[in-house]
Amino acid sequence: MAGFDSASLRGDFPILDRVVRNGNRLVYLDNGATSQKPRSVVDAEREFYFHHNAAVHRGAHLLAEEATDAFEGARTKVASHVNAKSEEIIFTKSATEALNMVAYGFLNATLDKSGVGSPFHIDKSKNIVVSELEHHANLLPWQQLAARTGAQLRWFPVDPEGRLDLTNIESIIDAQTAVVALTHQSNVTGAITDVPLISNRARQVGAIFVLDACQSVPHMKVDVQALNIDFLAYSGHKALGPTGVGVLWGRYELLEQMPPMLTGGSMIESATITSATFASPPKRFEAGVPNMAQAVGLGAAIDYLNNVGMGAIAEHESELTSRALAGLGAISGLTIIGPTNNHARGGVLSFTVEGIHPHDLGQVLDDKGIAVRTGHHCAWPLMQALKVNATTRASFYLYNTEDEVDQLVAAVIDAKRFFKV
Ligand code: ALA
Repeated sequence: MAGFDSASLRGDFPILDRVVRNGNRLVYLDNGATSQKPRSVVDAEREFYFHHNAAVHRGAHLLAEEATDAFEGARTKVASHVNAKSEEIIFTKSATEALNMVAYGFLNATLDKSGVGSPFHIDKSKNIVVSELEHHANLLPWQQLAARTGAQLRWFPVDPEGRLDLTNIESIIDAQTAVVALTHQSNVTGAITDVPLISNRARQVGAIFVLDACQSVPHMKVDVQALNIDFLAYSGHKALGPTGVGVLWGRYELLEQMPPMLTGGSMIESATITSATFASPPKRFEAGVPNMAQAVGLGAAIDYLNNVGMGAIAEHESELTSRALAGLGAISGLTIIGPTNNHARGGVLSFTVEGIHPHDLGQVLDDKGIAVRTGHHCAWPLMQALKVNATTRASFYLYNTEDEVDQLVAAVIDAKRFFKV
Protein backbone atom coordinates (compact mmCIF):
# COMPACT_ATOMS: atom_id res chain seq x y z
CA MET A 1 0.00 0.00 0.00
CA ALA A 2 1.44 3.38 -1.03
CA GLY A 3 1.92 6.09 1.58
CA PHE A 4 -1.56 7.57 1.08
CA ASP A 5 -5.12 6.41 0.69
CA SER A 6 -6.35 7.26 -2.81
CA ALA A 7 -9.99 6.92 -1.73
CA SER A 8 -9.54 9.59 0.95
CA LEU A 9 -8.27 12.25 -1.47
CA ARG A 10 -11.04 11.72 -4.02
CA GLY A 11 -13.13 14.28 -2.14
CA ASP A 12 -10.72 16.93 -3.37
CA PHE A 13 -11.83 16.22 -6.97
CA PRO A 14 -15.54 17.07 -7.33
CA ILE A 15 -15.80 15.56 -10.81
CA LEU A 16 -15.08 12.10 -9.44
CA ASP A 17 -18.54 12.17 -7.80
CA ARG A 18 -20.18 12.46 -11.21
CA VAL A 19 -22.81 9.91 -12.07
CA VAL A 20 -22.44 9.27 -15.78
CA ARG A 21 -24.10 6.81 -18.18
CA ASN A 22 -26.77 4.44 -16.95
CA GLY A 23 -26.51 5.73 -13.38
CA ASN A 24 -22.91 4.59 -13.03
CA ARG A 25 -20.39 6.49 -10.94
CA LEU A 26 -17.55 7.80 -13.10
CA VAL A 27 -14.43 5.63 -13.27
CA TYR A 28 -11.93 7.99 -14.87
CA LEU A 29 -9.09 6.07 -16.49
CA ASP A 30 -8.09 8.57 -19.19
CA ASN A 31 -5.41 10.40 -17.25
CA GLY A 32 -2.87 10.05 -20.05
CA ALA A 33 -5.04 12.47 -22.04
CA THR A 34 -5.75 14.89 -19.19
CA SER A 35 -6.02 14.73 -15.41
CA GLN A 36 -8.86 15.92 -13.22
CA LYS A 37 -8.39 19.00 -11.02
CA PRO A 38 -8.45 19.32 -7.23
CA ARG A 39 -10.38 22.19 -5.66
CA SER A 40 -7.14 23.90 -4.61
CA VAL A 41 -6.14 24.41 -8.26
CA VAL A 42 -9.45 25.96 -9.27
CA ASP A 43 -9.44 28.01 -6.04
CA ALA A 44 -5.97 29.36 -6.84
CA GLU A 45 -7.11 30.53 -10.28
CA ARG A 46 -10.27 32.06 -8.83
CA GLU A 47 -8.30 33.82 -6.09
CA PHE A 48 -5.96 35.24 -8.74
CA TYR A 49 -8.79 36.52 -10.94
CA PHE A 50 -10.95 37.86 -8.09
CA HIS A 51 -8.21 39.53 -6.06
CA HIS A 52 -4.92 40.00 -7.90
CA ASN A 53 -5.57 40.08 -11.65
CA ALA A 54 -3.31 42.46 -13.58
CA ALA A 55 -0.79 42.15 -16.40
CA VAL A 56 2.49 40.89 -14.95
CA HIS A 57 5.81 42.68 -15.46
CA ARG A 58 4.00 45.87 -16.46
CA GLY A 59 2.16 48.54 -14.55
CA ALA A 60 3.19 50.53 -11.51
CA HIS A 61 0.28 49.57 -9.30
CA LEU A 62 -0.37 47.20 -6.41
CA LEU A 63 -2.28 44.60 -8.43
CA ALA A 64 0.49 44.42 -11.03
CA GLU A 65 2.97 43.80 -8.23
CA GLU A 66 0.79 41.10 -6.63
CA ALA A 67 0.12 39.40 -9.96
CA THR A 68 3.84 39.39 -10.75
CA ASP A 69 4.63 37.89 -7.34
CA ALA A 70 2.02 35.16 -7.85
CA PHE A 71 3.25 34.37 -11.37
CA GLU A 72 6.92 34.31 -10.36
CA GLY A 73 6.03 32.31 -7.25
CA ALA A 74 4.53 29.66 -9.52
CA ARG A 75 7.73 29.65 -11.59
CA THR A 76 9.76 28.97 -8.44
CA LYS A 77 7.52 26.00 -7.53
CA VAL A 78 7.73 24.57 -11.04
CA ALA A 79 11.51 24.93 -10.98
CA SER A 80 12.10 23.24 -7.66
CA HIS A 81 9.72 20.40 -8.63
CA VAL A 82 12.20 19.28 -11.31
CA ASN A 83 15.36 20.49 -9.50
CA ALA A 84 15.96 23.46 -11.80
CA LYS A 85 16.55 27.20 -11.38
CA SER A 86 13.60 29.60 -11.67
CA GLU A 87 15.13 31.53 -14.55
CA GLU A 88 15.31 28.29 -16.55
CA ILE A 89 11.51 27.82 -16.54
CA ILE A 90 9.43 29.16 -19.43
CA PHE A 91 5.66 29.11 -19.28
CA THR A 92 4.13 28.10 -22.60
CA LYS A 93 0.54 27.32 -23.54
CA SER A 94 1.20 23.57 -23.81
CA ALA A 95 3.89 20.91 -24.03
CA THR A 96 3.39 20.98 -27.79
CA GLU A 97 4.28 24.66 -27.86
CA ALA A 98 7.28 24.02 -25.59
CA LEU A 99 8.66 21.33 -27.92
CA ASN A 100 8.03 23.51 -30.97
CA MET A 101 9.85 26.36 -29.23
CA VAL A 102 13.06 24.31 -29.14
CA ALA A 103 12.63 23.09 -32.73
CA TYR A 104 12.00 26.67 -33.89
CA GLY A 105 15.03 27.74 -31.86
CA PHE A 106 17.07 25.48 -34.13
CA LEU A 107 15.29 26.69 -37.26
CA ASN A 108 15.69 30.37 -36.41
CA ALA A 109 19.36 29.97 -35.49
CA THR A 110 19.85 28.22 -38.85
CA LEU A 111 18.03 30.93 -40.83
CA ASP A 112 19.91 33.65 -39.00
CA LYS A 113 23.28 34.20 -40.70
CA SER A 114 24.84 35.14 -37.39
CA GLY A 115 23.65 31.76 -36.05
CA VAL A 116 26.66 29.85 -37.46
CA GLY A 117 28.62 28.50 -34.51
CA SER A 118 25.55 28.44 -32.27
CA PRO A 119 24.68 25.05 -30.74
CA PHE A 120 21.29 25.50 -32.44
CA HIS A 121 22.69 25.92 -35.94
CA ILE A 122 21.91 22.90 -38.09
CA ASP A 123 22.38 21.94 -41.74
CA LYS A 124 22.32 18.95 -44.02
CA SER A 125 25.52 17.53 -42.57
CA LYS A 126 23.71 17.09 -39.25
CA ASN A 127 21.11 14.63 -38.01
CA ILE A 128 18.16 14.75 -35.63
CA VAL A 129 17.31 11.68 -33.53
CA VAL A 130 13.80 10.76 -32.39
CA SER A 131 12.11 7.36 -31.86
CA GLU A 132 9.15 5.31 -33.01
CA LEU A 133 7.75 5.73 -29.51
CA GLU A 134 7.05 9.45 -29.88
CA HIS A 135 3.59 10.93 -29.89
CA HIS A 136 3.09 13.48 -32.64
CA ALA A 137 3.93 16.45 -30.38
CA ASN A 138 7.52 15.25 -30.14
CA LEU A 139 7.77 14.00 -33.72
CA LEU A 140 6.27 16.55 -36.09
CA PRO A 141 8.34 19.55 -34.89
CA TRP A 142 11.52 17.53 -35.59
CA GLN A 143 10.23 16.19 -38.92
CA GLN A 144 9.54 19.76 -39.96
CA LEU A 145 12.94 20.93 -38.78
CA ALA A 146 14.63 18.16 -40.79
CA ALA A 147 12.57 18.95 -43.89
CA ARG A 148 13.35 22.66 -43.69
CA THR A 149 17.07 22.41 -42.96
CA GLY A 150 17.99 19.28 -44.93
CA ALA A 151 19.21 17.59 -41.73
CA GLN A 152 18.69 13.84 -41.64
CA LEU A 153 15.92 12.46 -39.42
CA ARG A 154 16.91 9.27 -37.59
CA TRP A 155 15.01 7.22 -35.08
CA PHE A 156 15.33 4.45 -32.54
CA PRO A 157 13.02 1.56 -33.39
CA VAL A 158 10.84 -0.12 -30.77
CA ASP A 159 11.07 -3.75 -29.77
CA PRO A 160 7.96 -6.00 -29.78
CA GLU A 161 7.22 -4.97 -26.15
CA GLY A 162 7.01 -1.33 -27.18
CA ARG A 163 10.30 -0.36 -25.54
CA LEU A 164 13.07 1.57 -27.25
CA ASP A 165 15.56 -0.72 -28.97
CA LEU A 166 18.92 0.87 -28.15
CA THR A 167 21.06 -1.79 -29.83
CA ASN A 168 22.47 0.67 -32.37
CA ILE A 169 22.76 3.68 -30.07
CA GLU A 170 26.38 4.37 -31.05
CA SER A 171 25.61 4.57 -34.76
CA ILE A 172 22.24 6.34 -34.40
CA ILE A 173 23.68 9.08 -32.15
CA ASP A 174 26.98 10.04 -33.74
CA ALA A 175 29.30 13.02 -34.03
CA GLN A 176 26.90 14.67 -36.51
CA THR A 177 23.87 14.49 -34.20
CA ALA A 178 22.59 17.95 -33.33
CA VAL A 179 19.63 16.99 -31.18
CA VAL A 180 18.09 13.91 -29.59
CA ALA A 181 14.40 14.29 -28.69
CA LEU A 182 12.75 11.41 -26.85
CA THR A 183 9.78 10.65 -24.65
CA HIS A 184 10.38 9.82 -21.00
CA GLN A 185 7.36 7.53 -20.80
CA SER A 186 5.31 6.31 -23.74
CA ASN A 187 1.72 7.51 -23.78
CA VAL A 188 0.77 4.22 -25.46
CA THR A 189 2.86 1.40 -24.00
CA GLY A 190 3.81 2.97 -20.67
CA ALA A 191 7.47 2.02 -21.30
CA ILE A 192 9.92 4.25 -19.42
CA THR A 193 13.02 5.32 -21.34
CA ASP A 194 16.46 4.78 -19.83
CA VAL A 195 17.22 8.50 -20.14
CA PRO A 196 20.69 8.72 -18.52
CA LEU A 197 22.02 6.00 -20.81
CA ILE A 198 20.96 7.97 -23.90
CA SER A 199 21.64 11.47 -22.59
CA ASN A 200 25.18 10.44 -21.66
CA ARG A 201 25.72 9.32 -25.24
CA ALA A 202 24.27 12.63 -26.49
CA ARG A 203 26.62 14.49 -24.15
CA GLN A 204 29.60 12.47 -25.46
CA VAL A 205 28.95 13.65 -29.04
CA GLY A 206 27.91 17.20 -28.10
CA ALA A 207 24.22 16.80 -29.06
CA ILE A 208 21.40 18.63 -27.27
CA PHE A 209 19.00 16.27 -25.43
CA VAL A 210 15.29 17.18 -25.27
CA LEU A 211 12.98 15.16 -23.03
CA ASP A 212 9.23 15.00 -23.57
CA ALA A 213 8.11 14.52 -19.98
CA CYS A 214 4.33 14.81 -20.51
CA GLN A 215 3.71 11.35 -19.08
CA SER A 216 6.42 11.39 -16.42
CA VAL A 217 6.49 14.71 -14.52
CA PRO A 218 2.86 14.24 -13.36
CA HIS A 219 3.54 10.71 -12.11
CA MET A 220 7.07 10.35 -10.71
CA LYS A 221 9.97 12.34 -9.30
CA VAL A 222 11.84 13.88 -12.24
CA ASP A 223 15.21 15.55 -11.66
CA VAL A 224 16.66 17.31 -14.69
CA GLN A 225 20.18 17.28 -13.21
CA ALA A 226 20.17 13.55 -12.45
CA LEU A 227 18.84 12.82 -15.94
CA ASN A 228 21.69 14.85 -17.48
CA ILE A 229 19.41 16.48 -20.07
CA ASP A 230 19.25 19.92 -21.71
CA PHE A 231 15.52 20.59 -22.24
CA LEU A 232 12.34 19.18 -20.74
CA ALA A 233 8.70 19.83 -21.67
CA TYR A 234 5.42 18.91 -20.05
CA SER A 235 1.84 20.11 -19.90
CA GLY A 236 0.10 21.44 -16.81
CA HIS A 237 -3.27 19.86 -17.51
CA LYS A 238 -1.89 16.31 -17.26
CA ALA A 239 -0.41 17.16 -13.83
CA LEU A 240 -3.60 18.26 -12.01
CA GLY A 241 -3.11 21.79 -13.36
CA PRO A 242 -5.24 23.94 -15.65
CA THR A 243 -5.36 23.71 -19.42
CA GLY A 244 -3.51 26.42 -21.33
CA VAL A 245 -0.23 26.13 -19.49
CA GLY A 246 2.83 24.10 -20.38
CA VAL A 247 6.40 24.17 -19.18
CA LEU A 248 9.71 24.31 -20.99
CA TRP A 249 12.83 23.89 -18.89
CA GLY A 250 16.20 24.51 -20.51
CA ARG A 251 19.77 24.78 -19.25
CA TYR A 252 20.38 28.50 -18.83
CA GLU A 253 23.52 28.62 -20.96
CA LEU A 254 21.54 27.08 -23.84
CA LEU A 255 18.48 29.30 -23.33
CA GLU A 256 20.80 32.30 -23.54
CA GLN A 257 21.83 31.18 -27.04
CA MET A 258 18.40 30.07 -28.29
CA PRO A 259 16.48 32.44 -30.61
CA PRO A 260 12.84 33.04 -29.65
CA MET A 261 9.93 31.48 -31.54
CA LEU A 262 7.51 34.34 -30.78
CA THR A 263 8.41 38.00 -30.68
CA GLY A 264 6.43 40.91 -29.25
CA GLY A 265 5.80 42.72 -25.99
CA SER A 266 7.82 42.10 -22.84
CA MET A 267 10.48 39.99 -24.51
CA ILE A 268 12.71 42.84 -25.62
CA GLU A 269 15.71 44.59 -24.17
CA SER A 270 15.40 47.48 -26.64
CA ALA A 271 13.46 48.22 -29.82
CA THR A 272 13.63 50.74 -32.66
CA ILE A 273 11.34 50.99 -35.68
CA THR A 274 13.59 48.59 -37.64
CA SER A 275 15.19 46.29 -35.08
CA ALA A 276 15.16 44.96 -31.55
CA THR A 277 17.38 43.19 -29.07
CA PHE A 278 15.93 40.54 -26.83
CA ALA A 279 15.67 40.23 -23.06
CA SER A 280 17.40 37.47 -21.13
CA PRO A 281 15.59 34.18 -20.54
CA PRO A 282 12.97 33.38 -19.43
CA LYS A 283 11.40 36.70 -20.55
CA ARG A 284 12.78 36.30 -24.08
CA PHE A 285 10.48 33.33 -24.55
CA GLU A 286 7.29 34.75 -22.99
CA ALA A 287 6.15 37.37 -25.51
CA GLY A 288 2.80 39.02 -24.79
CA VAL A 289 0.75 39.00 -21.59
CA PRO A 290 1.27 35.44 -20.36
CA ASN A 291 -1.13 32.81 -19.03
CA MET A 292 -0.88 34.13 -15.49
CA ALA A 293 -3.86 32.51 -13.79
CA GLN A 294 -3.03 29.17 -15.40
CA ALA A 295 0.57 29.35 -14.18
CA VAL A 296 -0.68 30.14 -10.68
CA GLY A 297 -3.06 27.17 -10.94
CA LEU A 298 -0.15 24.96 -11.97
CA GLY A 299 1.76 26.16 -8.91
CA ALA A 300 -1.15 24.99 -6.74
CA ALA A 301 -1.17 21.65 -8.58
CA ILE A 302 2.50 21.19 -7.78
CA ASP A 303 1.82 21.96 -4.11
CA TYR A 304 -0.87 19.28 -4.17
CA LEU A 305 1.42 16.70 -5.81
CA ASN A 306 4.22 17.47 -3.37
CA ASN A 307 1.89 17.19 -0.37
CA VAL A 308 0.96 13.68 -1.46
CA GLY A 309 4.57 12.94 -2.48
CA MET A 310 5.83 12.04 -5.96
CA GLY A 311 7.38 8.81 -4.66
CA ALA A 312 4.09 7.74 -3.07
CA ILE A 313 2.18 8.61 -6.26
CA ALA A 314 4.54 6.50 -8.38
CA GLU A 315 4.24 3.61 -5.90
CA HIS A 316 0.44 3.82 -5.89
CA GLU A 317 0.23 3.82 -9.69
CA SER A 318 2.66 0.92 -9.82
CA GLU A 319 0.37 -1.10 -7.53
CA LEU A 320 -2.62 -0.32 -9.75
CA THR A 321 -0.60 -1.28 -12.83
CA SER A 322 0.43 -4.63 -11.36
CA ARG A 323 -3.20 -5.34 -10.54
CA ALA A 324 -4.35 -4.35 -14.02
CA LEU A 325 -1.60 -6.36 -15.74
CA ALA A 326 -2.60 -9.44 -13.74
CA GLY A 327 -6.36 -8.96 -14.21
CA LEU A 328 -6.35 -8.01 -17.88
CA GLY A 329 -3.50 -10.42 -18.68
CA ALA A 330 -5.65 -13.34 -17.51
CA ILE A 331 -8.42 -12.58 -20.05
CA SER A 332 -8.24 -14.86 -23.08
CA GLY A 333 -7.93 -13.06 -26.39
CA LEU A 334 -6.62 -9.91 -24.70
CA THR A 335 -3.16 -8.71 -25.72
CA ILE A 336 -1.28 -6.09 -23.73
CA ILE A 337 0.37 -3.68 -26.19
CA GLY A 338 3.49 -2.82 -24.26
CA PRO A 339 5.53 -4.35 -21.47
CA THR A 340 3.61 -7.16 -19.76
CA ASN A 341 5.75 -6.97 -16.64
CA ASN A 342 5.82 -4.05 -14.25
CA HIS A 343 9.49 -3.25 -14.72
CA ALA A 344 10.43 0.26 -16.02
CA ARG A 345 6.89 1.07 -17.01
CA GLY A 346 4.29 3.53 -15.81
CA GLY A 347 0.55 3.38 -15.26
CA VAL A 348 -0.48 3.55 -18.92
CA LEU A 349 -1.84 0.30 -20.24
CA SER A 350 -2.89 -0.33 -23.84
CA PHE A 351 -4.55 -3.50 -25.00
CA THR A 352 -6.53 -5.12 -27.77
CA VAL A 353 -9.22 -7.80 -27.49
CA GLU A 354 -9.56 -10.27 -30.31
CA GLY A 355 -12.90 -9.87 -32.08
CA ILE A 356 -13.77 -6.45 -30.57
CA HIS A 357 -12.77 -3.17 -32.21
CA PRO A 358 -11.24 -0.81 -29.62
CA HIS A 359 -13.89 1.84 -30.37
CA ASP A 360 -16.67 -0.68 -29.67
CA LEU A 361 -14.94 -1.76 -26.48
CA GLY A 362 -14.56 1.89 -25.45
CA GLN A 363 -18.29 2.37 -25.95
CA VAL A 364 -19.20 -0.65 -23.83
CA LEU A 365 -16.88 0.57 -21.08
CA ASP A 366 -18.40 4.05 -21.32
CA ASP A 367 -21.87 2.52 -20.89
CA LYS A 368 -20.56 1.25 -17.55
CA GLY A 369 -19.18 4.66 -16.58
CA ILE A 370 -15.56 3.75 -17.35
CA ALA A 371 -13.70 6.44 -19.32
CA VAL A 372 -10.74 5.20 -21.36
CA ARG A 373 -9.11 6.39 -24.58
CA THR A 374 -9.32 4.38 -27.78
CA GLY A 375 -7.62 4.87 -31.14
CA HIS A 376 -4.09 5.65 -32.23
CA HIS A 377 -3.22 7.97 -29.33
CA CYS A 378 -1.59 10.54 -31.64
CA ALA A 379 1.24 8.06 -32.25
CA TRP A 380 0.72 6.68 -35.75
CA PRO A 381 4.32 5.58 -36.36
CA LEU A 382 4.23 3.54 -33.15
CA MET A 383 0.97 1.89 -34.18
CA GLN A 384 2.59 0.99 -37.51
CA ALA A 385 5.69 -0.39 -35.77
CA LEU A 386 3.58 -2.47 -33.39
CA LYS A 387 1.28 -3.55 -36.24
CA VAL A 388 -1.96 -2.46 -34.57
CA ASN A 389 -4.51 0.01 -35.95
CA ALA A 390 -5.81 1.10 -32.60
CA THR A 391 -5.82 0.12 -28.93
CA THR A 392 -7.92 0.64 -25.83
CA ARG A 393 -5.89 2.53 -23.24
CA ALA A 394 -6.41 2.81 -19.48
CA SER A 395 -4.17 5.31 -17.69
CA PHE A 396 -4.08 5.70 -13.91
CA TYR A 397 -3.49 8.53 -11.49
CA LEU A 398 -3.25 9.15 -7.78
CA TYR A 399 -7.04 9.18 -7.21
CA ASN A 400 -7.72 5.82 -8.90
CA THR A 401 -8.44 2.85 -6.67
CA GLU A 402 -7.94 -0.92 -6.82
CA ASP A 403 -11.71 -1.25 -7.01
CA GLU A 404 -11.70 0.81 -10.22
CA VAL A 405 -9.08 -1.48 -11.73
CA ASP A 406 -11.29 -4.45 -10.84
CA GLN A 407 -14.28 -2.72 -12.46
CA LEU A 408 -12.26 -2.28 -15.65
CA VAL A 409 -11.28 -5.95 -15.72
CA ALA A 410 -14.87 -7.07 -15.04
CA ALA A 411 -16.21 -4.73 -17.73
CA VAL A 412 -13.83 -6.13 -20.36
CA ILE A 413 -14.96 -9.66 -19.47
CA ASP A 414 -18.60 -8.50 -19.80
CA ALA A 415 -17.83 -6.93 -23.18
CA LYS A 416 -16.44 -10.25 -24.42
CA ARG A 417 -19.67 -11.92 -23.35
CA PHE A 418 -21.71 -9.20 -25.04
CA PHE A 419 -19.83 -9.53 -28.35
CA LYS A 420 -19.75 -13.33 -27.95
CA VAL A 421 -15.97 -13.58 -28.46
N1 ALA B 1 -1.06 12.92 -25.63
C1 ALA B 1 -2.32 12.74 -24.98
C2 ALA B 1 -2.73 11.32 -24.89
O1 ALA B 1 -1.90 10.46 -24.92
C3 ALA B 1 -3.37 13.61 -25.53
O2 ALA B 1 -3.90 11.03 -24.75
